[in-house]
Amino acid sequence: MTPLNVLVILGSVRRGRMSERVATFVMSRLAATDGVTAELIDLRDLDLPIMEERLGRIEPTPAHAADLGAKIEQADGLIIVSPEYNHGYPGVLKNALDYFYAQYKRTPVGLVTVSNGGHGGVNCWAQLVTVFVQLGAIVLPSSVAVSNVERSFAEDGTPLESSYITRIDGMIAELVWLASKLRA
Ligand SMILES: Cc1cc2nc3c(=O)[nH]c(=O)nc-3n(C[C@H](O)[C@H](O)[C@H](O)COP(=O)(O)O)c2cc1C
Repeated sequence: MTPLNVLVILGSVRRGRMSERVATFVMSRLAATDGVTAELIDLRDLDLPIMEERLGRIEPTPAHAADLGAKIEQADGLIIVSPEYNHGYPGVLKNALDYFYAQYKRTPVGLVTVSNGGHGGVNCWAQLVTVFVQLGAIVLPSSVAVSNVERSFAEDGTPLESSYITRIDGMIAELVWLASKLRA
């Protein structure tokens, strides 16, 4: 079987962002997973314009939107790494997600939420579940909530709390299991 193709979308473009540490770690665990290829989508690099219409309904198509839409459509699974902002997720992530619809259909999605507080972005998680259900994706029951991110991950993405290795690996295993079933 050709490797499963997993996209990791980093939902933070904030200067000095901490969620990048978590995304780096998720990428390293995906790289260590047999039968998986992974790509990190950094919304800071894409600099998508404010969404005026969904992909396919607007000319000219913003270049990065067409590329991202194709990648989401071809992905066997998505992992969203998102910080919690004001009990939700960042507007930049919603702007990117709203460009697409059919591209998400039946795609397994793992959610990793990030907070510098003690609740691990649980409000952000709840909102992302609602959004991805509406988009027709399949949200994995197993997710990872990262609390106290500044103390939980080093700048290079190394977890300073070993439980995150087990938790991220567990979520990746669920994603791989479901994506493999859907491929079959
Ligand atoms: C605009 C803004 C709103 C925030 N709101 C919340 C919040 O509602 N709940 C929470 O736990 N943390 C909140 N925080 C703290 C973030 O969890 C913390 O800054 C974390 O590092 C965010 O990820 P980032 O560094 O990738 O931006 C907020 C931070 C910002 C910048």
